[in-house]
Amino acid sequence: MNNSKTDKVNIVVIDNLLSNAELVSIILRSCGYSVKPFTLAAEALDYLEGTKDKISLVIADLMLAGISGHDLCRRLRANPKYKFTPFLVSSCLGDVEDRVSAMEAGADDFINKPIDRDTLITRAKSLVRTQALYDELIDKNEKLEFAFKKLQEAQNALISNEKFVTIGAMAQGLTHEIFNPLTIIGGNLERLNMRIKSDRLDAEFLSQIITSTRNAVKRCTKIVEALETYSAEKINSIETANINDILKSVCTLFAVKLKMMYSIDITENYDESIGEVECDPRALQQAFMNLMTNAAESIGKDGSILISTELTGGGITVTIADTGKGFGGADMSKAFDPFYSTKNRSLSSGLGLAVVSGVVKMHKSSIDIGNGPSGGARVVVTIPADLKLDANSSIDNFLKIDR
Ligand SMILES: Nc1ncnc2c1ncn2[C@@H]1O[C@H](COP(=O)(O)OP(=O)(O)OP(=O)(O)O)[C@@H](O)[C@H]1O
Ligand SMILES: [Mg+2]
Repeated sequence: MNNSKTDKVNIVVIDNLLSNAELVSIILRSCGYSVKPFTLAAEALDYLEGTKDKISLVIADLMLAGISGHDLCRRLRANPKYKFTPFLVSSCLGDVEDRVSAMEAGADDFINKPIDRDTLITRAKSLVRTQALYDELIDKNEKLEFAFKKLQEAQNALISNEKFVTIGAMAQGLTHEIFNPLTIIGGNLERLNMRIKSDRLDAEFLSQIITSTRNAVKRCTKIVEALETYSAEKINSIETANINDILKSVCTLFAVKLKMMYSIDITENYDESIGEVECDPRALQQAFMNLMTNAAESIGKDGSILISTELTGGGITVTIADTGKGFGGADMSKAFDPFYSTKNRSLSSGLGLAVVSGVVKMHKSSIDIGNGPSGGARVVVTIPADLKLDANSSIDNFLKIDR
C-alpha cells in the first residue's frame, strides 16, 4: 500500500485556471513527482475516488467552480482512502478567516498565490514525507496487529491444551497403579487353583483370599471411577455435582502421583453438609489438580497437603494448604498471569494458575492466594453454594487472554 522508494509519488493539483494548475505541475514534476492537473473540482473528485493509484498530496485552490475547496477537502476526508492524505490549500485571499475555515474542513497547510517556486517545493516535500512516514507507521501497525493476533491465538490454544496435560500425565501413572491390584487378583486365583488341585482348601484360606481380592477390586474400582469422571465425553458438560466428591476423585488420582514421585501426605477434611451445585465438574477437577500439583511442586520431597471444605454463609470454601516454601512476594501479583513461572521453564509453562483463574471465573467464584502462618502456601477458592451454571457455559470462553 505504500510508496516504496522506487514508486512514483502522485500529486493531484486542482485550480480553476489551467495556467496555474500547469505551473504548479511543472514545478513539482521538476522534483520527480508525477502530477495530474485538473481545472474542474468535480472531475478531480471523480478521478480521486476512482483511481487505484496511491495519491500522496492534493493541492487545491479554495475558489473552485462548482465545489468549493472547503467542500472538496471535506468530501475527501469523508472517504477512508483520503482520511489522512495531505491537503495543501492555495489561495489568493490569504486572510485568517479563510485559513481557519480551510483548517476546519481538514486542510493541512497553505500556500499563497502567486505561488513561489521554492515555498511550493518545500511544502510539498514536507507533506509528501509526512505521508510516507504515516504510511510506514500504518503498515508497521498492521503487521504488529497481525503478529499480535497470531500470538494471542497461539497463547489461547496453549492455555486450552493445558487443561488436559496434567490429566494425560496422570493417566500414564495410573496404569501402574491398576496393574498392582490386578497382579494380586491374578496371584490369588493361582493360589486358589493350586489349593483346589491339591485338595487343601480350608475356610481360613478362602476367607483370606476373598478379603485380599475384594480389597484389590475396591482399589481398582476407585481408580477407574475417578478416571471415569475425566472421560472425554464429559468435557464441557454442566452437571449437578458435589464439590466434596470432585475433590475426593482428584485426591484419589493425585495420591497415586504423589506416592510415585514424592513422600507427601494428603489430609482430607470435608464438611459433609455441603450440597450439590450445577457446575462443570471436569473443569473444577482440572483446577483442583493444578492447585495440588503446585502444592506438591512447592513442597518437593517431604511434607503434607491439607484439603478442606467448609460451608460458610452463602459459599463453599475449598482450602488447599501446603507445607512448601510459600508464594514469594513477586509471585502474589503475577501468579495468575499466563506464562508466569518461577520453575524450570522446560518443565513448567506457567499456565496452571491461568487455567485455575479461568475455571474460577466460569464458576462465578473467587480465589485467594497467600501464605499460612507456618509459611506454606494457602489457596482458598470460594464457590457460591447455590451455583447454577447455564447449560451452555463453556470453559473455553473463560480461558482466553483478553487485552
Ligand atoms: N503452592 C504454591 N506455593 C508456592 N508458589 C506457588 C504455589 N502455586 C503457585 N506458585 C507460584 O506461582 C507460579 C505460577 O504458578 P502456575 O501454576 O501458573 O505455573 P507453574 O506451576 O510455574 O507452571 P505449570 O503450572 O504450567 O506447570 C509458580 O511458578 C510459583 O512461583
Ligand atoms: Mg502449576
